[in-house]
Amino acid sequence: MKISLKKSSFKSVRDHTLIVPVYQQNSKMVLPKEAEALKKILDNVKKDSTFKGDIRQSILLRYLAAAKGQNVLFVGFGKKERLNIASLREALIHAAAELSQIKVPSFTFHLGTIDMANKPNPADLVQICAESLALPIYRFTKFKTEKKPDGSTKEITLCVLTNIELTEGKKGLNKANILIEACNLVRDLVNTPSNGLRPPQYADLAGDIGKKAGLKVKIFNEKELEKEGFGALLAVNRGSEEPARFVVLEHNAGRQELDTICLVGKGITFDSGGISLKPSEPMETMKCDMAGSAMVLGLMQIVSKLNLPLHIVGFMPLTDNMPSGRATVPGDIVKSYSGKTIEILNTDAEGRLILADALAYADKNYHPKLIIDFATLTGACVIALGEAGSGIMGTDQKSMDRLKELAEFSGDKIWQLPLWDEYLEEFKSPIADIRNIGQTRGAGSSKGGLFLQTFISDKTPWVHFDIAGSAFISKTTHRYYPKGATAACVRLMSEFLIDWVEV
Ligand code: BES
Ligand code: ZN
Ligand code: ZN
Repeated sequence: MKISLKKSSFKSVRDHTLIVPVYQQNSKMVLPKEAEALKKILDNVKKDSTFKGDIRQSILLRYLAAAKGQNVLFVGFGKKERLNIASLREALIHAAAELSQIKVPSFTFHLGTIDMANKPNPADLVQICAESLALPIYRFTKFKTEKKPDGSTKEITLCVLTNIELTEGKKGLNKANILIEACNLVRDLVNTPSNGLRPPQYADLAGDIGKKAGLKVKIFNEKELEKEGFGALLAVNRGSEEPARFVVLEHNAGRQELDTICLVGKGITFDSGGISLKPSEPMETMKCDMAGSAMVLGLMQIVSKLNLPLHIVGFMPLTDNMPSGRATVPGDIVKSYSGKTIEILNTDAEGRLILADALAYADKNYHPKLIIDFATLTGACVIALGEAGSGIMGTDQKSMDRLKELAEFSGDKIWQLPLWDEYLEEFKSPIADIRNIGQTRGAGSSKGGLFLQTFISDKTPWVHFDIAGSAFISKTTHRYYPKGATAACVRLMSEFLIDWVEV
């Protein structure tokens, strides 16, 4: 799918379908002034339709003489004075979802028709429109054998009025293309079932993608993991037929003058629960349990393509979590990379085990200015926030506050959860240094976070993303994104890293 940016008046746009905003002003529907020629058509729509110009409403009109035979999708932009970045994204996401559903081959949106107070600069505006229109068009077709032309949208055109908007807009489009490509890579990886992406294969793929992007790549195999003391990762891997891997991807390796940031992602290619087996009904969605690691890979590709002046290191601990005669059983004690011994009382709390090793490894060997981890860590986070947003927690309040501000631009929803140390008491073990689960119900996400915190030095600022709900939409479609992987927070994190070097 291609996105182009052109300088053109609204009148001279020619495409299969045009997206035309309809605003609500003084309880009436109005068109942007560029589209006045369509007024009669809108008047007819008013008489004969439930379309009221609300956000997430649209109506398709075919072969309009008033639009030189083109199709027009009137898209509700809601109350004019209320239009902001969030509602603009929502309206465009809806439009793109509609058009891709009815298999429109190409469509155009003219940015001159956006009428909004505090309009973002042309680069940001082009980026917002490109992302919102392109991301809903994604489909996961890798395992469909019938490769007939699917009739899905192949081209999106954005138009602006001036040369300055064109030059500035191109920067925004370039950035959007890099982000969209990475988001769709993440979605492909997360949607791929576990038999299509075993840890060794996944590690090789990550290595290839990393090398292609110009990153330094190191892949630890099972022998190296043993030698280096990744006892918690290997404990999760014990029941598996497939060996574990640990992938380290480095952007600007050796550039000591640059700030170091570590990104760590949970990479459980399938979480059966292990001996603490999960119930079978929702188990198939547990192919998504490597979403954190896919996010790290996507982000590493982004930072390399954007050539960010930061030393960024990505860590992907990879294994599945399976029961077998060899598997770790409840009560087993293992020595983690940090040296701490862990009493594993529930083998389904495995994400925190592989992250304990990866976080300690990153902290000890890279002394970063900030560690951020991403993990489909707790069912409790899905209970608390559902699938619409991600939980965040950590020790670096400044970074979390900045993430909250940037989330308004990127559209990824995040909500901070506390790390109250009262709950740390529950992790005391009489026979090991720490238990891998708490001892009472409640605050499951915070408890997962508190466990992770004990594997990072107090001096290293740290933020944890629990993406258990947001990474994968299991049942219904959500906000017009198709079911399955969402690449939640990939764009937010990119903005955060870009922002780090800009201020
Ligand atoms: N991968 C799951 C968490 C999860 C649940 C992700 C739903 C996505 C959707 C994780 O490994 C897990 O099983 N966590 C346990 C922890 C508990 C045993 C302390 C949970 O949340 O039940
Ligand atoms: Zn689990
Ligand atoms: Zn898991």
